Amino acid sequence: MNATRPAAVIVLAAGEGTRMKSSTPKVLHRIGGTTLLGHAVRAARATRAAHVSVVVRHERDRVVEFCAAFDADLVIADQDEVKGTGRAVECGLDALPADLTGTVLVTYGDVPLLTGETLVALAEAHAASDSAVSVVTAHLADPSGYGRVVRDPDGHVARIVEQKDASPAERELTEINSGIYAFDADLLREALARVGTDNVQGEKYLTDVVQIARETGRAVSAHVIDDPWQTEGVNDRVQLAELGRELNRRVCERHMREGVTIVDPATTWVDVDVSIGRDATVLPGTQLLGATSIGEGAVVGPEVTLTDTEVGAGAQVSRAVANLAVIGDGAVVGPYSYLRPGTRLGARGKIGGFVETKNADIREGAKVPHLSYAGDVTIGEGANIGAGTIFANYDGVAKHHSSVGAHSFVGSHTVVVSPVDIADGAYVAAGSALTQDVGPGQIAVARARQRNVDGWVERARPGTRTAEAAARARAAQQSPSTDPTPEDPTP
Ligand code: UD1
Ligand code: MG
Repeated sequence: MNATRPAAVIVLAAGEGTRMKSSTPKVLHRIGGTTLLGHAVRAARATRAAHVSVVVRHERDRVVEFCAAFDADLVIADQDEVKGTGRAVECGLDALPADLTGTVLVTYGDVPLLTGETLVALAEAHAASDSAVSVVTAHLADPSGYGRVVRDPDGHVARIVEQKDASPAERELTEINSGIYAFDADLLREALARVGTDNVQGEKYLTDVVQIARETGRAVSAHVIDDPWQTEGVNDRVQLAELGRELNRRVCERHMREGVTIVDPATTWVDVDVSIGRDATVLPGTQLLGATSIGEGAVVGPEVTLTDTEVGAGAQVSRAVANLAVIGDGAVVGPYSYLRPGTRLGARGKIGGFVETKNADIREGAKVPHLSYAGDVTIGEGANIGAGTIFANYDGVAKHHSSVGAHSFVGSHTVVVSPVDIADGAYVAAGSALTQDVGPGQIAVARARQRNVDGWVERARPGTRTAEAAARARAAQQSPSTDPTPEDPTP
């Protein structure tokens, strides 16, 4: 086995997070498309550790439910009523095999920007040293609130002191404990058994392990990182937003470096699992969420929100909302389109302005350009759906499906009262209310025939401007020679 591969990662997630003022446990708040705990677990998994355990207590059942759905192989460790990070790690170890040896990493469930690369580098540096403990530290301009790293005169890490327990001189130290560590498993187990609760908070501090390691003659290293964002935890909603914005900035930067044009990263929000092809352009005000993927050369935005949606190469999507939809290569969507789950738009198809679709299979080159609702429908290749067409799929009790065949043409303002099947190569007259199937080559006319009633305006609306206009028009019709129009040769 690779010596730098840790035996286990223990993720601490038992704390209350009272400053969130939330009925949702802190670690289940989300940025970048997953929970804070989800980010921590991803980083932990990147180390390829044999075991990853999550220590839970506050809102235990909800956190455990999330863990099971996110990663079925996580080991759940319950913390008892003894408080403190030291106790949490002890409980984490208890849930792992008793004979576990090698390196154990400890991280927090509320530090979402910590990367897998940093944990791998920590594990490598720890393995390369002969230290029993390696602690990730950073130099902060404002270290308040953090535990401080106290070094001995030769510069070795001597101990970590919590701010609340620190002397005024120690509070001046700017090297902070990130709370992320690599430990030798045996040393960790032995040291934790000796950690007490004699401190201002009456808690069992994990940080005390550092001093105990030194007292037993073991070395402690600092793994200093120069990216303090990676050690920053979320304590309240202000920090949640700050870290969310920084995570997004990093995600956008990664895509830009891979050849994606993002015109305004500040107003573009991209979840961590989104993929974007080269030479795609993302215009301002766009959110790409969940498992969304964007094909090469596509143009998405402005003002587009896509959730778990696939956009094909060269497609264009503007001012649209789509959820669980598939947009084919070279297709055009928007502006002002709403694609609901189960929408599939074929290559070079179109879903235009003020069109809502759901469970709609709109095949290659088919168009629903204007002001329509297409729910529970299959629209064949090259078919054209006129403006204002409604597929009335719901009868108040059940949903029904309709289909429009290839290269068929549905006239504007048609209501298709589902279920109706329109064959390939058929026409439907504008304004129809269809309740029956239409065969190949037929035109369906499903509306009352037009009837014009002579003299109605003068009789029913005498003395109005409309009546006057009618009288003038009729006089002009009856004596065309009184106002000849030389340019207009029509009789
Ligand atoms: C801890 C460190 C401090 C460090 C800081 C970095 C200790 C004693 N102090 O302080 O040196 O600078 O983190 O952010 O370790 N947790 C549990 N069970 C508990 C207590 C905490 O699981 O009983 C979890 C929390 O959910 C959280 C993490 O451990 O994810 C840190 O706990 P927190 O109370 O925030 O520790 P700090 O006081 O910030
Ligand atoms: Mg904290």
